[in-house]
Amino acid sequence: MSEQPDTPTTAGHRDTDMPWALAAVDTAVVLIDGEGRATRANHAARVLAARLGPGATPDLLLSRTTTGASWEMAQRDGRWVGEVSMADPPMVLEVKLYCGSDGSTTRRFATFSDVSARSAREDELQRRHDELQRTYRRLAGAQEQLLQSEKMASIGQLAAGVAHEINNPIGYVHSNLGTLQEYTGALMALIEGYASALASDDPASSREVIRHMRERLDFDFITGDLPQLLSESREGIERVTKIVQDLKDFSRVGRDEAMRPSDLERGLESTLNIVWNDLKYKVRVEKHYGTLPLVECHASEINQVLMNLLINAGQAITERGTISLATGCEDDEAWISIADSGCGIAEDALQKIFDPFFTTKPIGRGTGLGLAICYSIVAKHHGRIEVSSRVGAGTTFRVVLPVVQPAGAGDDEATAG
Ligand SMILES: Nc1ncnc2c1ncn2[C@@H]1O[C@H](COP(=O)(O)OP(=O)(O)OP(=O)(O)O)[C@@H](O)[C@H]1O
Ligand SMILES: [Mg+2]
Repeated sequence: MSEQPDTPTTAGHRDTDMPWALAAVDTAVVLIDGEGRATRANHAARVLAARLGPGATPDLLLSRTTTGASWEMAQRDGRWVGEVSMADPPMVLEVKLYCGSDGSTTRRFATFSDVSARSAREDELQRRHDELQRTYRRLAGAQEQLLQSEKMASIGQLAAGVAHEINNPIGYVHSNLGTLQEYTGALMALIEGYASALASDDPASSREVIRHMRERLDFDFITGDLPQLLSESREGIERVTKIVQDLKDFSRVGRDEAMRPSDLERGLESTLNIVWNDLKYKVRVEKHYGTLPLVECHASEINQVLMNLLINAGQAITERGTISLATGCEDDEAWISIADSGCGIAEDALQKIFDPFFTTKPIGRGTGLGLAICYSIVAKHHGRIEVSSRVGAGTTFRVVLPVVQPAGAGDDEATAG
């Protein structure tokens, strides 16, 4: 180690007054007296002070980088560390203040390191981090929109079928109301007949007239038919209400809502109800439901998964076939399987079915997004989709979901999956 140059400091001291090691280090070191004045400064401190302007001293360095509060904290804790940004000249200094006592005397000193480069790197990192976060939020928003528009598109596809499903009960409720109107007319006429008979001097003599009237108005048939008409109409209205409710459940946007314990079987039933019109002419549905606990999920999103799987199953069956629905629970996982007796999936296609835009269906029939969206919804729920298929025999999809979401699994983090 070479000797340091013997240069006077502001306080009139020389480097030779500093321990040689302090004089040699790159870190700027300033020793300070009881009044807060620099008593000694090493070479690095003088060079740093000089950067503040012509004739600048270590005292100026001290006054521009420390405050009464920072010294108070150093006094209290023995040490204070902080970063100070300067505008002129532009630089960031890491300042450390030390206070200690040497018997009766208080010893104080400060060190300074130019951390401008590190701070610039940190700023750059922070900027990139913020940018990544913004991009991530935009992506999450776009994914949410994609989910929603896919859901709306599938609802659009189903609209005709659903309209038919609603039209049917409305049709017979309407015709029942017509019949009820006729029956009411007949009943009113009969009541009139009874009333005038009662009002006459000899009601018993009207017996034959009334009997004749009852026959003419088909009273016995009306009494038999009325309860049936009413209960049929009630069922029709209930069916319409149910379909509208299912559609409402289905179209609800899941965003910003917490996952809730939900009845998956009910979701499966109402989804089946929505797609039923597309299936009923060619598909026989078998149900093998086990006992399912409530499963923590976004019910409307899981319904969307089930709907895509049901539609695919229906589309895989060209003539006539069976769709078997089964549910069950093992350990902490609930599962729903949808098995069809359709065309099956070839080995090489099986690798790609979850890829966005992979479709074997004619243009206009399939966009190839159904299973990709199922995959992302199920992944967001920390579950999985299993598939097994044999060409010509059929395909089984099994959706497995944890009954309770893993602790600390925030929605935001999961959306990235
Ligand atoms: N149950 C199934 N039986 C046979 N093939 C299936 C079945 N489910 C999916 N596939 C195959 O996987 C492909 C991708 O399915 P996916 O649901 O992602 O898209 P799509 O049904 O073609 O179009 P979209 O669902 O967007 O209308 C289908 O084109 C089909 O080849
Ligand atoms: Mg599909």
